[in-house]
Amino acid sequence: MNFNFSERMDGMSGSATREILKLLSRPELISFAGGFPATQCLPQREVLEISNEILSSDKVVAALQYGSTEGFNEFREQIIEYVKGVGIQPLNLDQVQVLSGGQQGIDLMSKAFLNKGDVVLVEDPTYLTALQIFSSYQAKIVGVSTDESGMDLNDLEAKIKKHNPKILYIVPTFSNPTGKTYTVENRKAIAELTAKHNCMVLEDDPYSRLRFEGTPVPALQSFDKVGNVVHVTSFSKVLAPGLRTGAAIGHKDVIRKITICKQGVDVSTVNLSQLIVANYLKKGYMTPNINKSLPIYRERKNAMMAAIKKYMPEEYKHTDPEGGLFIWGSIKGLDMVSLMPKAIERNVAYIQGSVFYADGGHNDTFRLNYSNATAEKIDTGIKALGTLLKEEVAKLK
Ligand SMILES: Cc1ncc(COP(=O)(O)O)c(C=O)c1O
Repeated sequence: MNFNFSERMDGMSGSATREILKLLSRPELISFAGGFPATQCLPQREVLEISNEILSSDKVVAALQYGSTEGFNEFREQIIEYVKGVGIQPLNLDQVQVLSGGQQGIDLMSKAFLNKGDVVLVEDPTYLTALQIFSSYQAKIVGVSTDESGMDLNDLEAKIKKHNPKILYIVPTFSNPTGKTYTVENRKAIAELTAKHNCMVLEDDPYSRLRFEGTPVPALQSFDKVGNVVHVTSFSKVLAPGLRTGAAIGHKDVIRKITICKQGVDVSTVNLSQLIVANYLKKGYMTPNINKSLPIYRERKNAMMAAIKKYMPEEYKHTDPEGGLFIWGSIKGLDMVSLMPKAIERNVAYIQGSVFYADGGHNDTFRLNYSNATAEKIDTGIKALGTLLKEEVAKLK
């Protein structure tokens, strides 16, 4: 059969992360490749308790029947309260669309705004699946450079003027892959600049609650004066990715279009999961459970930093994040793409950095995840990786 796929599939291959995640089933492999929350942070007891309550009460019908596309009002009200925690002002219900995971927000924004050839600006590097989504809508993706404070504002303004982009996509708090957080001033400047040039901003925020050091920074949307910022929050990293819940928050006219796009995607919205998360928030479980998780993430990040110091070549330059799940770094001269099979042979996995760049390249970069391995495994895995990379660095000399 000659499969006549759509043009939008041209050049689209499966996500590198997903391919590597398949290897996780090998028990001897220590993976720093994924972005999984720590298994012991998944709130099994609470989810069991709440599910039992829902399924043994009259809520069972709402849980198991079709529901509205927008999501339950009860849950949207909880979300309005939840995002106050990142400085987002009280909203109306029509500004909140429940999502089946935060990633769906990227897809629905693309569906609502992008025509073939439209430009999307992204921070370079950025979340690789967002790159895939924008490509699937046949957008032209243009990378904007970053600096210590966040986005390089001169580069951003120059690229806005040159390309007249439809969307600026950013992960301004504990970015995936870099772990970087934009300063308050940088956020304000981005909000002003994009508003002035009529460019939508998609603020993707799955990680801001996972701060184990430093001072919290308000969401970029809290500086939005014209309604051009859509904030996407997710319950994947703070509760459970398997529940597939998140929300898009923005101007009511934009949210309405997102709802219409969603109607064609999955009709109604993960009802049982919505009720579980709504009740989890209502019972006040979220904050204590995040507070229980943060020391685990802090300990694992510190374990990785200590192992890096012990085992990695001194040429390795890397970040030291205050939250989120990732350490980002590079070793000048090494090709981390072609080294991947060698690392896997030694039972350790990372993600090559090139996949996070709009135009590829940057083969000397790579991302390490510290959330999903014990401190002991982190030590073993970084030792294996460090030994390999030291051998490879020696070959360069
Ligand atoms: C930046 C970013 N956005 C979105 C997602 C997907 O989140 P969700 O599980 O809520 O769909 C991830 C997951 O790793 C991510 O890192």
